Order: sequence, then structure tokens, then C-alpha cells
Amino acid sequence: MSAAVLEIERLPGCGAMIRGLDVRVASDAAVDAIRQAVFDRGVVFLEGQQLTPENQIGFARRLGPIVVNRYFPKTERWPEIAKVEKTEAQTSNIGGGWHTDHSYDAAPAMGSVLLAIETPPAGGDTLFADMYAAYDALPDDMKATLKGLTARHASAHVFGEAGGYAKTDRPELAGYADTPEAVHPVVITHPGSGKKALYVNPGFTREILGVTAQESQTLLTFLYAHAVQPRFVTRFKWRPGSMAIWDNRCTWHCAMNDYHGHRRLMHRITLDGVPLS
Ligand code: SIN
Repeated sequence: MSAAVLEIERLPGCGAMIRGLDVRVASDAAVDAIRQAVFDRGVVFLEGQQLTPENQIGFARRLGPIVVNRYFPKTERWPEIAKVEKTEAQTSNIGGGWHTDHSYDAAPAMGSVLLAIETPPAGGDTLFADMYAAYDALPDDMKATLKGLTARHASAHVFGEAGGYAKTDRPELAGYADTPEAVHPVVITHPGSGKKALYVNPGFTREILGVTAQESQTLLTFLYAHAVQPRFVTRFKWRPGSMAIWDNRCTWHCAMNDYHGHRRLMHRITLDGVPLS
């Protein structure tokens, strides 16, 4: 099966929908086409995937090497699978602000394979924003300003001893002593597509380096508002068996927290990445 025969529907804003494929029996060519669609569109969605944990791990491994998230709770038997869960009693969710996974790592995660196990009757959608399109739409003078700049990304303010989760009803997600930081270009060239993408995010980017603190804040405030304009964003509604595969280098995502009193359980596998330039 080639990209030409995989049914890939480009979605407005960000991402693509792939129909008519059971990933358990995908050919090597179909897996290659999915990977390329992820690189090109940032995120792909598939419905109706009835996967055991072993199936999900096996499929993720065909897309790329797996990296284990250091902060999220793991499923009991499969350390490769992180449990992204909010119970009926909890009010804070995981990933409830715009971010991209693992940008605090020197080689940030390539992507994630998120499978819906249990979804609330309404709500719990995930928003994805296209950082290729956000970069392309910047005015030329802003592109010139950003050229050559780097930014510092960190995780202590989220997962560290006084991290954001410590003040919520999810304190188990905070309290970590070992919280990495990394510096990356503000604009990267995506290693899989060759396209330029904006690579700062509200969740983990702390400052743009080589400018004053005020300039850094002004730039980041502008870029954050610019990047989430509706023309760059897709909203995905989950059902059990829905799966999203996203590329962290060219998208942001944000999990809506609008379903208090209901359980939502997702199984997430993170795919390893490479240093960015
Ligand atoms: C995440 O940030 O990985 C969670 C996304 C989601 O639960 O929709």
C-alpha cells in the first residue's frame, strides 16, 4: 500500500484523517506512508483501532524507537505505555495547556501515539496547532528577527519539586528532583520534511536567549497568540479506539479539561527523536 492508495484526508487547520486502515495489519509501505503524513501534516487520526497494549507497542515500534516518559504513570505491565488518565474525582488533567512533548530534552521526542481507551460522554477533545503554518504566516520582519535565535526549554516548573502539578489534585506528577533543560533553535528545520517550523511552546519554553528578558517575553507573547489562531488549529473528538499520531517538532497540542465527573483514559506511547537544528 503506498501513500497514493492510503486514504488520507487533509483536515482544515492541522492534521489529516486516515480511513479504512487497521494498523495491526498495515504493510510496511502503509507504515511508511503514515510516518510521512505525520511529518507533513503534523498529526494523523485513525478511528476504530481495537488494539491490545502489545498491538499498540508493536505498531509504535514500526514508526520509530520508543522513549519512556519520565514523569507520567505507566500501565502496570507495559512501561512503554504511559497512562494519561483523569478520574471521575479529579479536576486537573494531564496536558491541559498548549505544549509540545519533551521539548526540555536535548533530543526532543519525535512524536506520540495516543489511543483512546475510555472517553467521557462529552468533552475531552484535544486541540492540535500546526507550527509549519504558524511559521509560514509570520511577517517577513518577524522571520528575520527570529532567524538564528535559540530558546531555553525546561520542565522543573511543571514536574519539579515546586512544579505546577504540586498545587493541583495531581501532586504525583510533581516532586521530581531530576528535571532536564535544553536549548533549541526558535525556528527549526524539520528533520523529516525539510520544512521550517516554529519551535517554542507555552508549556516548556522559558526564555529566548540573547535578547533582554523583556524582549523575550514580548516575542513569546506575540508568537503564542499568533500560533493558536483558528486557521492553524484542529479539534479532535475522541471515541474509544480513536488514535492520534503526532509530531512534536511541528505541532502543539492541548487536552481540553471540560468533563469533570467523568473518567477519561488514554494510552500514550512516546517516540524518540533527534537533536534539532
Ligand atoms: C498529552 O499531552 O499527551 C495528552 C493529550 C490528551 O490527553 O489529549
